[in-house]
Amino acid sequence: MAEYEYVLSSIDGAVGIVTLNRPKQLNALAGPMMRELVDALEGLDANQDVRAIVITGGPTVFAAGADIKDMSDATPVDMLLRNNIGLWDRLKKVSKPLIAAVAGYALGGGCELAMLCDIIVAAENARFGQPEINIGLMPGAGGTQRLTRSIGKFLAADMILTGRMLSAEEALQHGLAARVVPHELIVDEAVRLGKQLAKQPPVALRLAKEAITRAFEGRVDDGIEFERKTFYLLFATQDAHEGMQAFIERRQPTYQGR
Ligand code: CAA
Repeated sequence: MAEYEYVLSSIDGAVGIVTLNRPKQLNALAGPMMRELVDALEGLDANQDVRAIVITGGPTVFAAGADIKDMSDATPVDMLLRNNIGLWDRLKKVSKPLIAAVAGYALGGGCELAMLCDIIVAAENARFGQPEINIGLMPGAGGTQRLTRSIGKFLAADMILTGRMLSAEEALQHGLAARVVPHELIVDEAVRLGKQLAKQPPVALRLAKEAITRAFEGRVDDGIEFERKTFYLLFATQDAHEGMQAFIERRQPTYQGR
């Protein structure tokens, strides 16, 4: 099994487990971490012994979003050339069921990562949000499209335009999370669900997953492309850099509308 710096990859029975492992930074998704995550998932997807895959950050935090410190000085061209978000197109190609086991914060890119999975299991302490607006940005990895499709336009707009977070219970009520479990059991419960899936007929499982994905993602690609370009474009605004710098300096941002 490959060794990584920012993620742990393991197998329990027929269930692959990828654990985001940058807890001090609340699993902020830096570029190298995203590359490792995609690589680990593709490795498990290719492994014949694995039938379902859990993505988790453990019982405390899932992921607090893209790494703001990485992006605070970036220009739109830097973002376009790095195209870290483009890596996630590969995640959509994973053929085995993906279970997001979410405890604590799943914000920005973290929430978007969970929404790239097939089933979201939330711990009682989970908090889902797309708070990019608070730092002068907007979701860039599918949030405007997948959150809107998951929970409906009006609640999604409330979250994306105000930065409001949903609790686990709210996420369950609005169809973002499929189940809520005690936080100390989050990984065990997700693996138990993975083992249940692993007993299902693999070909039917794979094709059913693909069919569900088509129902969800059909015609979403145009929206995703638009979102990604506008996200990158926001790096041309002074407000985005002010917002990210204010986060780093732990102060309130002052926006000028430029
Ligand atoms: N990027 C970089 N570092 C982050 C981070 C992020 N997204 N989120 C948290 N961290 C770091 C903090 O800077 C801090 O590091 P230091 O100890 O080195 O200062 C550490 O993680 C702990 O964070 P806090 O001290 O802030 O913890 P808290 O409990 O007070 O607050 C929080 C938790 C509310 C999640 C807060 O950290 C926060 O608001 N984080 C940013 C959330 C956010 O805006 N996410 C969206 C990012 S942009 C994005 O994801 C774009 C996209 O669509 C692809």
